[in-house]
Amino acid sequence: MKVTGTVRVPGDKSLSHRALILATLADGRSRVRGLLDAADVRSTAGALEALGASVEWRDGEALIGGGGRRGLRVPAADLDCGNSGTTARLLTGVVAGHPFTARFVGDDSLSRRPMKRIKQPLEAMGATVDLERGDGLPMVVHGADLHSVVWETPVASAQTKSAILLAALVAGVRAELHEPAPSRDHTERLLAAMGASVTADRRQVVLEPTRRLNPLDFDVPGDPSSAAFLVGLALMAEKGAVVLPNVALNDRRIGFLEVVRRMGGMVRWETERTAGGEPVGTIHAKPSSLRGTTIDGADVPAMIDELVLIACLAARAEGVTAVRGAAELRVKESDRLATVVQNLRAIGAEAEERSDGFVVQGSRTPLRGVVRTHGDHRVAMAFGVLSALAGNAIHIDDRRCVDVSYPRFWDDLERLTQ
Ligand code: S3P
Repeated sequence: MKVTGTVRVPGDKSLSHRALILATLADGRSRVRGLLDAADVRSTAGALEALGASVEWRDGEALIGGGGRRGLRVPAADLDCGNSGTTARLLTGVVAGHPFTARFVGDDSLSRRPMKRIKQPLEAMGATVDLERGDGLPMVVHGADLHSVVWETPVASAQTKSAILLAALVAGVRAELHEPAPSRDHTERLLAAMGASVTADRRQVVLEPTRRLNPLDFDVPGDPSSAAFLVGLALMAEKGAVVLPNVALNDRRIGFLEVVRRMGGMVRWETERTAGGEPVGTIHAKPSSLRGTTIDGADVPAMIDELVLIACLAARAEGVTAVRGAAELRVKESDRLATVVQNLRAIGAEAEERSDGFVVQGSRTPLRGVVRTHGDHRVAMAFGVLSALAGNAIHIDDRRCVDVSYPRFWDDLERLTQ
């Protein structure tokens, strides 16, 4: 099978959420181009509008009327976060610093995901977060006058870190955070680009009390997590090459590229500019002979959303691939350790589930069968890449679940493989 072409992948999901939220909290009108137009980001825009923000989003450009850092209003209805953990967790931080109450709801998958990890620090700052079912959604957040916080997060989670930073920003208080490993730092970078005083290193972030944020004028670069699927396709093809320009290349997001290179993948990337404090550049990938590898806890945060794809590449690599220290995958859009292993077995690959990871034995035998996504976009796309390879016959039960992060995925896959 041959791959050829250049694809501009859609805007980065993490940056799109953050650009909308921070623009809403800025003083003055922001202009953001290239926002990811997908269900998760629409959930954030819809919830912000329900909180009184003005978001005019058309033809690839959004104009966001910033009402200042404590300018939102009590919503008339529940805030519907759909399938989006980032929407629920980051906006909880925002609401926690406002003087009102809001109820957060989401779909079945999001309702099962852990929210205690944000309840604890936000309550330590003075808010009240009621989890109606003990954990997950629905969740009622009672905002308050918050006080400063020093917090150590037990798991590396950019959503938890960002919820605390946003709460402190809205309240105008100091936050000092310590993480066990460096999670993605887009909130810190955008805050700094908007004039806040943030200092950060690999384990610690400090936000000083902030009075105002400058509005944003920002082109959202492409999403490296979406690009990863097309890189995976190129690596497993027989001939050709794929070029992916305008991708965010933050080193806390490109662990996948580093690891596939270690597996023998012919992939290279170069940074060409910065936008919103983020390095941006082009990725080139070519068909390669992949070898199995070992991925441990230290590698995980920078490739947390790409581990499902790694499992699919591992099924086609020579030898064994083992992933450890990835228990966080159990609380993503599906229990990804279980869904990956069940689906690899369902199509005839050898895989074993571990409490905090999985082991996959690579082979060249054709893979055939039905994949059950459990509504998880990254499962659909990772197995979608395997389904595009010559000799495989894989049916994905729910192709539309990719709409939350990469609505054009199937078209781009087809275009590259024609
Ligand atoms: C995200 C953080 C990660 C990631 C998710 C997006 C973000 O989640 O898996 O897809 O935008 O902050 P955690 O914070 O739960 O690790």
